[in-house]
Amino acid sequence: MSTGAAEGHVLAIDQGTTSTRALVVDLGGRVVTTAQVEHRQHFPRPGWVEHDPDEIWANTRQVIAEALGAAGLVPGALAAVGVTNQRETVVVWDRRTGRPVHRAIVWQDTRTEDLCRELGGPDGADRYRKRTGLPLSTYVSAPKIRWILDHVGGARAAAERGELAAGTIDSWLVWNLTGGAGHGVHRTDVTNASRTLLMDLATTRWDAAIAGELGVPTAMLPEIRPSIGAFGRGHRDGPIPGVPIMGVLGDQQAALFGQTRFAAGEAKNTYGTGSFVLLNTGAEPVASEHGLITTVAYQRSGHAPVYALEGSIAVTGALVQWLRDNLGIIERAADVEELAGAVEDNGGVYIVPAFSGLFAPHWRPDARGTIVGLTRYADRRHLARAALEAAALQTCEVLDAMRSDTGMRLRELQVDGGMAANDLFLRIQADHLGLPVVRPENVETTAMGAAYAAGLAAGAWPDLDTLRGHWRTGARFLPEKDERWRRGRRRAWQEAVSRSLNWTGE
Ligand SMILES: Nc1ncnc2c1ncn2[C@@H]1O[C@H](COP(=O)(O)OP(=O)(O)OP(=O)(O)O)[C@@H](O)[C@H]1O
Ligand SMILES: [Mg+2]
Repeated sequence: MSTGAAEGHVLAIDQGTTSTRALVVDLGGRVVTTAQVEHRQHFPRPGWVEHDPDEIWANTRQVIAEALGAAGLVPGALAAVGVTNQRETVVVWDRRTGRPVHRAIVWQDTRTEDLCRELGGPDGADRYRKRTGLPLSTYVSAPKIRWILDHVGGARAAAERGELAAGTIDSWLVWNLTGGAGHGVHRTDVTNASRTLLMDLATTRWDAAIAGELGVPTAMLPEIRPSIGAFGRGHRDGPIPGVPIMGVLGDQQAALFGQTRFAAGEAKNTYGTGSFVLLNTGAEPVASEHGLITTVAYQRSGHAPVYALEGSIAVTGALVQWLRDNLGIIERAADVEELAGAVEDNGGVYIVPAFSGLFAPHWRPDARGTIVGLTRYADRRHLARAALEAAALQTCEVLDAMRSDTGMRLRELQVDGGMAANDLFLRIQADHLGLPVVRPENVETTAMGAAYAAGLAAGAWPDLDTLRGHWRTGARFLPEKDERWRRGRRRAWQEAVSRSLNWTGE
């Protein structure tokens, strides 16, 4: 086994909603090896989604070992490790034993709907928007932490005594990689912290007043660090002994970084479980008046943070999974392309996949999945086509909101994620947008972003321009439909969305 040059490779850990991946990347920005394991999705009640943090940590160790093994590398051959992760999902654990006190509550989970309504009071979802950039919603982390403290016996008292730690998945992994109970460091990065509803966007520090109002003791929270810089070294008994963790980014920010969208005015959309459009807005956080989130895009150690506007769409690829798992009309996700391609259009059918309410730009927890426009003519092919159009039309809505908020007009949209492998879908997206849609050669942008962040901080790459030099066009999809067609589809979509509202609550 070769040990490789100490500066020769970077390892990225991509802990996602459905699976955990590890990638070994070389200095040319090429993926050398990958390993991936799925974890179990727990749905204890309608609208509840949980993961087992111990399973996630075990899977992380496994994929690190597999990716390194396949590359013929020992951990000591790595220049640095980067971590990227599903965002907002929270873990609360006992610092002394390292045991989680509850399963992780996942970003899609809607159990805090009533709690959020109560906490919002007369200001509703906008209560903390100015300071945090976020709506007070089931999506963000703080209400989930509060729920655990309210429902696990003794948890609140233990949290107040400083015995419990709370964090997003990145901090759970960093704590475990650096040694866990007795050794682990409790740190997070500014992009993940910006999704909690507990961080002041302007100062990038925890806001004690908000934490107090939401009932989350600050003693539980990790230290916030720049995304690109030192987080700690792998513990000697762990999977990356002695290797420095030099980059941590939430998955969508990592995808923006991996797409090398470093400049203000550049955007990307990642189509995975959900879809997340991020528009780099540069040094200034832009407040949204059209239902978008203001978030940190990345921060290099010693530099000011770079901000982004985000359109978070809860369900896109997950609708394709639903066609597969719940309706059984396809066998594999990729089969949706052939089925949808067997018809010319959607036959008038629209699916609003509001499985966990609607996120951007509507923020309606009371919305539920809706299929409209059915006739005796419609069949599974139209449903497949409508599923692809749902992803495309939701993306159009958030790009419209971005234009309204910033006046910026995109020239093209960079795309990635599992669903971006589907050529028919990207043609549909270009038609609905009226803009070119561009897929890079390397679609592992989330993991690449974590690798780039860590390698940049470790000096494996000298600057952002070098990273930009790694980006290559894979395919370009040009719009073929006219404005009139687009307007008609948008109008129908708005009608369909209005039918999906008001299905929960009093
Ligand atoms: N060819 C395809 N056409 C349409 N959708 C697809 C296709 N291939 C995969 N998908 C969808 O893409 C999603 C998986 O994409 P990806 O692996 O990027 O997910 P992800 O959200 O990053 O997962 P994680 O959150 O675990 O990181 C699934 O929801 C799947 O239904
Ligand atoms: Mg992912």
